[in-house]
Amino acid sequence: MPTEMVLVFDKIGRWSEIKLDIIEKYALPYSKILSSRTNPEFHHVYIDAFAGSGTHISRTTGDSVRGSPQRALDINPPFKEYYFIDIDGAKVDELKRIVSNRPEVHVLKGDCNSKLLTEVFPKVRRKDFRRGLCLLDPYGLDLNWEVIKTAGQMRSIDMILNFPVMDMNRNVLWSNPERVDPVDISRMNTFWGDDSWKEIAYHQQTNLFGEVRGIKESNRTIALAFKERLHKVGLPSESTLALLQIVGEMAQNRQNGLTTTNPWGYHFPRVDLSEND
Ligand SMILES: C[S@@+](CC[C@H](N)C(=O)[O-])C[C@H]1O[C@@H](n2cnc3c(N)ncnc32)[C@H](O)[C@@H]1O
Repeated sequence: MPTEMVLVFDKIGRWSEIKLDIIEKYALPYSKILSSRTNPEFHHVYIDAFAGSGTHISRTTGDSVRGSPQRALDINPPFKEYYFIDIDGAKVDELKRIVSNRPEVHVLKGDCNSKLLTEVFPKVRRKDFRRGLCLLDPYGLDLNWEVIKTAGQMRSIDMILNFPVMDMNRNVLWSNPERVDPVDISRMNTFWGDDSWKEIAYHQQTNLFGEVRGIKESNRTIALAFKERLHKVGLPSESTLALLQIVGEMAQNRQNGLTTTNPWGYHFPRVDLSEND
């Protein structure tokens, strides 16, 4: 494989492959539900804000793996339109090559935080009978709270967020918060929307010597607290934000034989089909 292609294709591990399966399992019923609706008909769109090049290389097998844009394009019944955004020019070029001039597919190069707010979300308005499934799959804390808040307030967009726990744990949620780089604190604040995560992410524990220490909460607790934030902007968080991390945890438990009761139930879309206000 030519060197430039190796740079365009990310190497992905097992979790990313599970993640891609979950996205497919979510997007298929979503598109079925929206396509079956008549009178009024909905124009439903798929939005992939951190789209990648469309193809990855499996770290376990070395085989190529279809990325989220390719999987979305293969969903049947299809979405009426697709928006793919990536900040990396080489990945965007590769994605454009795969898409090959399909008029209903828009490939945008740039920072999705601004592209979504200015170019994409305005085309998915509830009053125009439009609905959108928006995948937010950043490498790390590259997403602004403003995007989640705006999408939630529009009440036309369902989001699937790959909650960036790895970046948080590696760079921000240290046992000694005072040593964290201010730049990383600022990235976390931008993602979270303010600094209220500081109260949520730790609880106090007294050790045998009477010393009080901050203990980091579980990833799940932090992810759920983030989801709860949608309530604070007046939204029913349950229906609009599916957290891949939690769904993935359930899938993993199922594989390990820990869960027997409908572990997939959680992530089937609860699409809001009510008509315009
Ligand atoms: C985890 S990968 C996406 C993988 C893809 N969703 C999939 O499953 O096939 C994250 C992508 O986000 C892109 N990216 C990083 N920051 C971005 C930003 N601010 N706006 C848009 N894309 C960004 C990177 O270039 C990378 O391709």
